Amino acid sequence: MKIIGLAASPRRQGNTEALLDAFLQGAREAGATVEKYALAELNLRPCDGCDICSYKSYCPHSDDAMTLLPKLAAADVVVLATPVYFYGVPAQAKALIDRAQYLWAQRHVLHRKVGKPGGRGVLLAVGGSRGKKLFDGISLTVRYFMDTLGKDLASSLLLRGVDEIDALRQDTRALARAQRLGAKIAAGQSGRAKRR
Ligand SMILES: Cc1cc2nc3c(=O)[nH]c(=O)nc-3n(C[C@H](O)[C@H](O)[C@H](O)COP(=O)(O)O)c2cc1C
Repeated sequence: MKIIGLAASPRRQGNTEALLDAFLQGAREAGATVEKYALAELNLRPCDGCDICSYKSYCPHSDDAMTLLPKLAAADVVVLATPVYFYGVPAQAKALIDRAQYLWAQRHVLHRKVGKPGGRGVLLAVGGSRGKKLFDGISLTVRYFMDTLGKDLASSLLLRGVDEIDALRQDTRALARAQRLGAKIAAGQSGRAKRR
């Protein structure tokens, strides 16, 4: 099983990356092949909305999105680990998500197959505050991003009240939860949506 993890925070080695690392460790130990990309290190231009992908089947930007998106579509599992930024995802993640319009056009306009049958998506997210609706925006955005990659959003681990850069590296319970979820997903189980 091939699992690709995306670290969406521009703050490297922070909370979401700690969660992602724990998840990928659990998945690797359970036998999955894992790959990790830190979006802040990639060259990702935002979508121009030019719509060329809808009628000419290519994107005029030849940046890292064009190599990463097909890999994500081909993977068995895609994991997006992200902090809440103004109730959404950071700009780096939104740039990649919007560029998935290229895949949306492949499927819905050009009627090509995108993604692997049975592909799954996982959302790992943290936010500094504790509001009830803290993850509503992100959950919707990521569900439809995963759908565009040909994945069902199978599982989410959503943690409130996580702010300082090392808050999760010190939270062994949360990291153990992420690790167990990685092992479950690698074993073909869906895990459960978790919140606190
Ligand atoms: C630009 C920016 C916007 C943020 N917006 C929110 C927000 O809307 N709600 C919230 O609870 N936390 C917000 N936060 C706090 C982050 O979600 C929190 O610090 C998180 O732990 C960062 O994760 P990281 O260490 O992976 O970068 C924001 C932080 C930044 C830098």
